[in-house]
Amino acid sequence: MTGLFITLEGGEGSGKSTQIGLLSQWLRQQGYEVLATREPGGTPLAEEIRTLLMVPRSEKMSSLAELFLYQAARAQHVQEVIRPALLRGAVVLCDRFTDSTRAYQGAGRTLPDETVVQLNQLAAQDIQPDITFILDLPEEAGMQRARDRGSDDRMMTEALAFHRNIRAAFQRLAKEEPDRITMVDGTLSREAVLAVLQERILPRLPARPMPEKRS
Ligand code: TMP
Repeated sequence: MTGLFITLEGGEGSGKSTQIGLLSQWLRQQGYEVLATREPGGTPLAEEIRTLLMVPRSEKMSSLAELFLYQAARAQHVQEVIRPALLRGAVVLCDRFTDSTRAYQGAGRTLPDETVVQLNQLAAQDIQPDITFILDLPEEAGMQRARDRGSDDRMMTEALAFHRNIRAAFQRLAKEEPDRITMVDGTLSREAVLAVLQERILPRLPARPMPEKRS
């Protein structure tokens, strides 16, 4: 793979999408091909699966059904979008990836971590992020931010304790894999967060694409 795969993780309302927008702009200005995408989602089929997952419903979704739906969306997304972009040499910025599944379905829904890890590997088809940022924020603050922007998906209906477990899981993952994962204080200003991200990304950027020759 010649590209660079960067994932942004964190609880609800942690500012991931804002940072992806700012990073895309910064990288495109430098001449990189950037693919900004998200999970669940990123292809028409995976976006349909996202709708299935997000809509609040009266039937309780089983934790295993939920896990498989996230993985189904991921398998499609990796095969159709992420892998081809990395092969082209693009910088891929993905809003959530496999760490979210360990935090939400593993710690949140209490499915065994080994099961989640195995299915993550299967669905991600051996693709792993080169760099991961976890935007860390106290769960109350994150939930408030998410509510303020009108978010009312299924995870938002979970109790604060559920979101506290998820935050703790992200913190554990960062300790387990310090080379890949950087924890970032999500309470900082957007400019300050962006500066931390840029500092970490800069030395890992692939060779800059050559400007096209004019004839
Ligand atoms: P978001 O893109 O607005 O953050 O919403 C995605 C929701 O899906 C969020 O509540 C986290 C959840 N999620 C999981 O539970 N497992 C996963 O593997 C992924 C990618 C997301």
